[in-house]
Amino acid sequence: MLSVTFLVTGGICVVLACMVISLILRSRRDVHLPPGPTPLPILGNSLVLVPTDKLAVYKRLRAEFGDIVCLTFGTTKCVIFSGYDLIREVFVKKGDATTNRPPQSFFIKSIQKGYGVGGSSGNLWKEHRTFILNFLRKSFRRERLEGLIEHEVTHYIKRIHDANEKPMELRRIIGTSLTNVTLTLGMSKRFEHDDARLIQLLKAIDDIMLYSGFSEALCFFPALKYLPGDMFHAQSMLDDKEDIFKWLKELIDERPGGVPEHEDDIEDFIDAFMLEAKSQEGDTTYTEHQLLHVLFEFFVAGVETSGATIRWAVMFMLHNKDVQDKLADEIISNLGYERTPTMADHPHLNYCQAFISEVQRCGNVAPLSGPHSASKDFYVNDYLIPKGATLLMNLTSALKDPKYFDDPEAFRPERFLDSEGTYVVQNSLIPFSIGRRICLGKDLAKIELFLFITSMVQNFEFLPEDPNTLPEILGCDGISHGPVTFKFIAKRRRPVKM
Ligand SMILES: *[C@@H]1O[C@H](CO)[C@@H](O)[C@H](O)[C@H]1NC(C)=O
Ligand SMILES: *[C@@H]1O[C@H](CO)[C@@H](O)[C@H](O)[C@H]1NC(C)=O
Repeated sequence: MLSVTFLVTGGICVVLACMVISLILRSRRDVHLPPGPTPLPILGNSLVLVPTDKLAVYKRLRAEFGDIVCLTFGTTKCVIFSGYDLIREVFVKKGDATTNRPPQSFFIKSIQKGYGVGGSSGNLWKEHRTFILNFLRKSFRRERLEGLIEHEVTHYIKRIHDANEKPMELRRIIGTSLTNVTLTLGMSKRFEHDDARLIQLLKAIDDIMLYSGFSEALCFFPALKYLPGDMFHAQSMLDDKEDIFKWLKELIDERPGGVPEHEDDIEDFIDAFMLEAKSQEGDTTYTEHQLLHVLFEFFVAGVETSGATIRWAVMFMLHNKDVQDKLADEIISNLGYERTPTMADHPHLNYCQAFISEVQRCGNVAPLSGPHSASKDFYVNDYLIPKGATLLMNLTSALKDPKYFDDPEAFRPERFLDSEGTYVVQNSLIPFSIGRRICLGKDLAKIELFLFITSMVQNFEFLPEDPNTLPEILGCDGISHGPVTFKFIAKRRRPVKM
């Protein structure tokens, strides 16, 4: 009897002791922010962001502090996560706490203004993300999208023919073609490639993408935008946005009036949006303002990233002639020279799929994806990530994660093939980011990349402008990481038929 009481009392003591210890540990843990460089008074770690060689700075930080690095800017903490497993843990498993956008970021506050989908959070984001995904899904089902892209590819290939095997550059041509796709899908509009308004639009998009690389500092110190000389290009970005909006508004105003009566009458995104607005009574989030922001995002997010990936594809083909030859063999033995590739060919072109995956991995067009924000306190690896912290996922570190990609710096499409030569999906390939904010246009991009790249290889052999010097594999430092401008020669694989 006595021993039972003793055991019970003893048991209770042990449980209590454990609780106390865990409370102590927990409260100790509370003060444990992730490691990082010691912040200076007032300035915090802002010197890190002065536009110099940021890449080298980040590299050093990761080498010194590891996979979770905490920086301090003013009153804001910014935490950078590296490595595929950790990124998955934070942005997928802890998605409840990590899905919002940081409202204080310059791009989100001043350019996106919390509208659209890329720039919004909460209910607005949820509602419009679902709406856009449904719209895209319906366009896929009606095979509208595929036909549209195939049509565009034909024009695009003609333009490369027009260069007549002279040194050429791809940026503008691919930009205008992808813009045509986006415009058709968005508002049933197409432009000739030399249309002055189109060229102006592309210039504005290019600039915004480039300047956005400087705007990180503005995320944390909005007052920097008042510095003389527009050092962080805040004013230029605002002007560019103004131009793009004016342009979009003109296009909307030029449309024949009227809202479609029925879902079957929907021709483009604007139709779908207006029909939805009409069907919602009273307070609606389907306003002209929201529409302009969504269309703006279609361009900024859609045109630039796919275009950069396709330019990387050419760059890697120049550098890996053997890979280019294998691509050509596969395409020509499956399709010949005449038949234009369609998505029905996708499952049969395993090497092409592997090549495109490897281009996405090495090209790494969105190295930090977009910034997220902690909507509540949470813990990762025993570190506290405080509510309101800005969260960045280091996608580069996932795409080059040695745990998943052997010899990660090497360009080797074979890593995506099994011993039979069949394409194998690898979950750690996350060029479109991961979690609830994974790129909306992912499936559209997949079709664009496949159809543009296979058609290019079917028609041309890509050679360096100067046989003795290959263009350097060097990326731009903006929101999107495309190759720096380079020239090449597109040699016809067969004589042109006029
Ligand atoms: C992301 O990881 C890569 C690869 O380790 C590293 O070179 C880069 O500096 C990191 N970037 C940031 C912003 O931490
Ligand atoms: C856009 O599409 C139109 C109509 O199909 C075509 O005439 C034009 O050349 C295309 N523009 C570009 C830049 O490819």
